Amino acid sequence: MEQTIEKQEQASPFTFEVDAEGIGVLTFTCPGSKPNTLSVSLFESLPGLLEKVQKTPNLRAIVFRSGKPDMFIAGADLEDLGKIPTPADATRLSSEAHKVMARFEDMHVPIVCAIHGMCMGGGTELALACHYRIATDDPKTVIALPEVKLGLLPGAGGCQRLPRLVGLLNALDMILPGKNVYPKKALQIGLVDEVCPNAILLDVAKKAAMRLAEGKIPRKRAPKTGLLTRLLFEGNPVGRNYVFKKATQGVLEQTKGCYPAPLKALEAIRAAVELPNVADGFKREAELFGEVASSDIAKGLIGLFFAMREANKEKGADVSPRAVRKIGVLGAGFMGSGIAQVASDKGYVVRFKDRDDACLGKGLKAVHEYFTGQERTLGRPEATRRRQQVSGGTTFEGWRTVDMAIEAVFEDLTLKRKVLAEFEAATRDDAIFASNTSSLPITDIAAQAKRPENVVGMHFFSPVPKMPLIEVIKAKQTGPEALATTVEVAKKFGKTVIVVNDGVGFYTSRILGPYMNEAGRMLLEGMAIDALDHAMEQFGFPVGPIVLMDEVGIDIAAHVGKILGDAFGERMKGSEMVEQMVKAGRLGRKSQKGFYLYKKGKKLGPDTSIYAMMPGGAERKPVPAEEAADRLGYAMANEAARCLEEGILRSANDGDVGAVLGLGFPPFRGGPFRWMDKVGLSAVVGKMEALAAKHGARFKPAQILTDMAKGGKRFHTA
Ligand code: NAI
Repeated sequence: MEQTIEKQEQASPFTFEVDAEGIGVLTFTCPGSKPNTLSVSLFESLPGLLEKVQKTPNLRAIVFRSGKPDMFIAGADLEDLGKIPTPADATRLSSEAHKVMARFEDMHVPIVCAIHGMCMGGGTELALACHYRIATDDPKTVIALPEVKLGLLPGAGGCQRLPRLVGLLNALDMILPGKNVYPKKALQIGLVDEVCPNAILLDVAKKAAMRLAEGKIPRKRAPKTGLLTRLLFEGNPVGRNYVFKKATQGVLEQTKGCYPAPLKALEAIRAAVELPNVADGFKREAELFGEVASSDIAKGLIGLFFAMREANKEKGADVSPRAVRKIGVLGAGFMGSGIAQVASDKGYVVRFKDRDDACLGKGLKAVHEYFTGQERTLGRPEATRRRQQVSGGTTFEGWRTVDMAIEAVFEDLTLKRKVLAEFEAATRDDAIFASNTSSLPITDIAAQAKRPENVVGMHFFSPVPKMPLIEVIKAKQTGPEALATTVEVAKKFGKTVIVVNDGVGFYTSRILGPYMNEAGRMLLEGMAIDALDHAMEQFGFPVGPIVLMDEVGIDIAAHVGKILGDAFGERMKGSEMVEQMVKAGRLGRKSQKGFYLYKKGKKLGPDTSIYAMMPGGAERKPVPAEEAADRLGYAMANEAARCLEEGILRSANDGDVGAVLGLGFPPFRGGPFRWMDKVGLSAVVGKMEALAAKHGARFKPAQILTDMAKGGKRFHTA
């Protein structure tokens, strides 16, 4: 018979029940929230609870588990972490967390941690403080210490306990990239001790608890690290030095020096393996946590996390979306084939329509190759099934059953209107037409539509399978059902969605325009290609603007640039040089000739022969990286502010998410709006006015910026 010795009052997240054999089950269920998170107030209440648990008579062992379905613990409450004012406060918080974790570790009876579902950050650190870990074999079960992705480091003992449990190399491999570890691997490296099905998790955990209580399993066990690894690297100072040196190099290469958190995590791990006194390691971890947790970088990344969470709640409109089973893809080109791959991957039946067999064949081949590449992960039968879900033709045969079309033909208004008319003639009245135009207003595309309420924009980014954003464009005539359906499909594609209002270039292409133009101007003024790209990488973009131009294609950049220039005039007017480059067949990577040199598909250094097309010729002027970052960064941010002012953007949040996920705006700056907040809007206006005085009226700050600066306002409250 089960004896309940403590049932906390209603609001408590914990229950504790002891069975007849003396095994207590401590269940954690955060009230009122979907995930289980570890808040500061929860940490404060834990010592009291553990004290009561400790006084339980005849207690032999404890099983710690979550009461949430499919979720262990999602990590620390980021609302709390985003608000830490000073490094000293952060250090204090980390030291307090260390004390709580130590109470678990030092408990008079052994604790078994039963993990099912997501186990992240503080949840993993709690699991590490227990004496035995069991994970379910469920695909939802994943263990990680992802703190560095938010500009933090595991500060509740994770950097200390993980290397002791799984060895130095495995710990570095997990903490530095914030990598997810799935049950099989977790067992292999000793992160968990057993794996079992969820249905028997509690049973297995209780049995393990009993074996620990009886001393059949020791509370502390040595890592599973191989003898050679121990001798060569982990247990030998020379080898260890080599490991830390290599890890530092790897981090610097990955982060280009923009993200300090992984380096600080490295230092904390080093303290764990090298300081003779365990307590000193914890102390160092707390200090290092203090350094990163109150930094602007952590605040930017946490702010972005919240912005993405908001974006993921997007529904488009307050109506039920229409059911979509079959998706038609118009144009089996580069984007069309990427869209078909993702659609089929996510369970949709796909039907291509292209203008001729050759183009159709290319698209089908690309899909075929994509799923052949997936055979190893999906298994051949599933990859074949997904491949066979995609078919195509050069007519609209099979389109009566299409629920939604995604249009990806050439960027040409007349052509897009023509295919829309053909689509309307061939499909049901409720079929949706979502255009993947990169710049044309949806209103223009739908101008002659018979069912304009079904026309919407669905702007993908390239490469479609990898890029995490879809910008959904709502034109005035777009109906709520078409909008809600498009948002739902975009989310089922696994993407984050921002919904923007219609206009030339909508949001992302529009803000990219002045950024790219400014890059072109700087080249014409004499800056070297690689110096400019390097400057923007230092600012935090994954690639510089000139590399990006070569990747996108100079012809496409020229075409979109012209559309933006025609619509917005002087400030978006591109250079004539790109037209000349297109005429000369310099189209970027796809023609193996652009701003950079290519050999057998590999990008080499800048093609200096292109300087002959520029006024300064081969003589390049040194330009400080900060000047380039200012000019390009503010050109983009100013346009983003205009998009908000004109109502293209519905919120600064969407603007941040769109720029980071769609264009690679430095995540640690949190997006253009958060970046401007950080600089301070008065300072931003001052900078833009100075740039306007020096370089031209295109830098004149948007009205919204001047108004907000005057009112002492900011885009985000925190
Ligand atoms: P693409 O040239 O690779 O493909 C266009 C396809 O449309 C070709 O297969 C062509 O045969 C087909 N097509 C032409 N006329 C047709 C018709 N009447 N009926 C059916 N199919 C027809 O072009 P890409 O790069 O895939 O671009 C397609 C659209 O996606 C454009 O509007 C572009 O602006 C947009 N876009 C492109 C991005 C990129 O990075 N390439 C990014 C986001 C949007």
